[in-house]
Amino acid sequence: HGRHGRAHFQRRAQRHHSPVHRRRRPRQPAPTGADGGGARRRFHLRGHPLAAAAALAGPPVVAGGRHAPVPPPLGVRGDMYEWITGVLKARGGTFTFCGPWFTNLHCVVTADPRNLEHLLKTKFGNFPKGPYFRDTVRDLLGDGIFGADDEVWRQQRKAASLEFHSAEFRALTASSLVELVHRRLLPVLAETEAAGAAVDLQDVLLRLTFDNVCMIAFGADPGCLQKGLPEIPFARAFEDATEATIVRFVTPTAVWRGMRALGVGHERVLRRSLAGVDEFAYDVIRKRREELAAAAATGHEEAAGGLRRADLLTIFTKMRGADGAPAYSDKFLRDICVNFILAGRDTSSVALAWFFWLLSKNRGVEAKILQEVEGIVAARGRCGEVEEELVFQPEEVKRMEYLHAALSEALRLYPSVPVDHKEVVEDEVFPDGTVLKKGTKVIYAMYSMGRMESIWGEDCREYRPERWLKDGRFMGESAYKFTAFNGGPRLCLGKDFAYYQMKFAAASILRRYRVDVVQGHPVAPKLALTLFMKHGLKVTLAKRDDKAKL
Ligand code: HEM
Repeated sequence: HGRHGRAHFQRRAQRHHSPVHRRRRPRQPAPTGADGGGARRRFHLRGHPLAAAAALAGPPVVAGGRHAPVPPPLGVRGDMYEWITGVLKARGGTFTFCGPWFTNLHCVVTADPRNLEHLLKTKFGNFPKGPYFRDTVRDLLGDGIFGADDEVWRQQRKAASLEFHSAEFRALTASSLVELVHRRLLPVLAETEAAGAAVDLQDVLLRLTFDNVCMIAFGADPGCLQKGLPEIPFARAFEDATEATIVRFVTPTAVWRGMRALGVGHERVLRRSLAGVDEFAYDVIRKRREELAAAAATGHEEAAGGLRRADLLTIFTKMRGADGAPAYSDKFLRDICVNFILAGRDTSSVALAWFFWLLSKNRGVEAKILQEVEGIVAARGRCGEVEEELVFQPEEVKRMEYLHAALSEALRLYPSVPVDHKEVVEDEVFPDGTVLKKGTKVIYAMYSMGRMESIWGEDCREYRPERWLKDGRFMGESAYKFTAFNGGPRLCLGKDFAYYQMKFAAASILRRYRVDVVQGHPVAPKLALTLFMKHGLKVTLAKRDDKAKL
């Protein structure tokens, strides 16, 4: 189904190419931006904003025209995100679409940090996710944090934020990673290396982070990452449900609603895969309620399941309302967990895949990471430690600042969420002068932001972790320039966790193996809500037992 879903999505995206017309419209409000001319054009597209984004992948820009073609970045073939970047540059950071009259579509695309700060922070309340997004994703995400606004969002954000910053949660993330990386990831890689086989590293990493996020959201391990890389029904159902939901964004609302009512096409896939997701979720929820009830009855609450649980499901299940009754229904608990899994399942693995690819092209950076890691290991001052069993401690991971910079730099160029969008509630004017009418959809292009000379300087397309360092220490950037984790009140909740997870996994792999991308393997971003590598990342591994090879 997944493959069918992808093919259908691509077909739909292609179909959307043709209705792109560009022409001048004298009625258009005064344009803004660095190109400053009154001749700014509007783009006429059929469909809604994400279809519009898909449509942008259309015919290549005409050479010598106003939109000169953009050279492919770092060896990736030209693609939709590059196309958007080219238009944004030509228009000074912001441009406007206008759909046909009957769609009432107004859509503004921006990569201007001033606008980002305005919409993510200053006027946060005026730029919610909006009912269009919520209605489209409701069957999968329900009232969960990802699609929620206002009070429903605020409540979950507050509770989850407390949990994410607790010592118990940090301990859980550390222990779950030791288990996953040392008992599962490294044995799989060892087997691959021994067989001299190529492996899709993106797939392996996706399995790692899927298992990991399920452990912290549900306290349950689906077991995707294990020798033989088996297909796990829950993971399959989750993947299919997500893909079928995305198809809704490129289908007219009335059409997918009709298909849902009839239970045909992708809506049928969605219904079936949602049943798979729900079956797993409600089973875990029921067992957890029973476990917690039994623990409370015997007075051994701390010992539920033999260990103190700190996963999100346990925390939210324990919460009580003013009347002492459980604060959340099973349905709401399901929504909370599904949303966290969606948020955390593929973002960090996709970032790691791009990171390993970038390292394969920038061996100097890799050498510096290894030097840093070796320094940290040497500082242990212990001798006789068995090499293969070296497990990084949380404070050691924290000290890997060059690695932190190298991952941030990968995310700057390949943000896991390449574009995101909001809806405007009241008429607005962006700091760059762009007029936004109530109901306008705003797309902010994180991918393009990493490629703006105006933000990062002339060398913005170079992979250079040093730009994040000052006197050898990591220096963060404004969330409105470096937008990979969003910013303002909706800043990614899993940011610290994600960095820990990525650093732990990357350092553990890199210290043991040199990762080589299979020659001729095509690397290109996929047209999806997450910046997957379209063809995965086929790699071979070489053991680093010969220190001279470093
Ligand atoms: C490299 C890894 C990651 C990146 C680049 C990333 C990026 C983002 C972005 C761009 C958003 C905003 C999405 C939107 O509002 O439309 C977001 C939100 C969120 N992320 Fe992450 N994320 C990462 C990892 C994680 C992980 C591992 C978790 C959880 C375990 C997580 C949990 C969340 C949650 C709960 C939200 C919603 C916050 C809210 O709406 O208040 N993220 N993330």
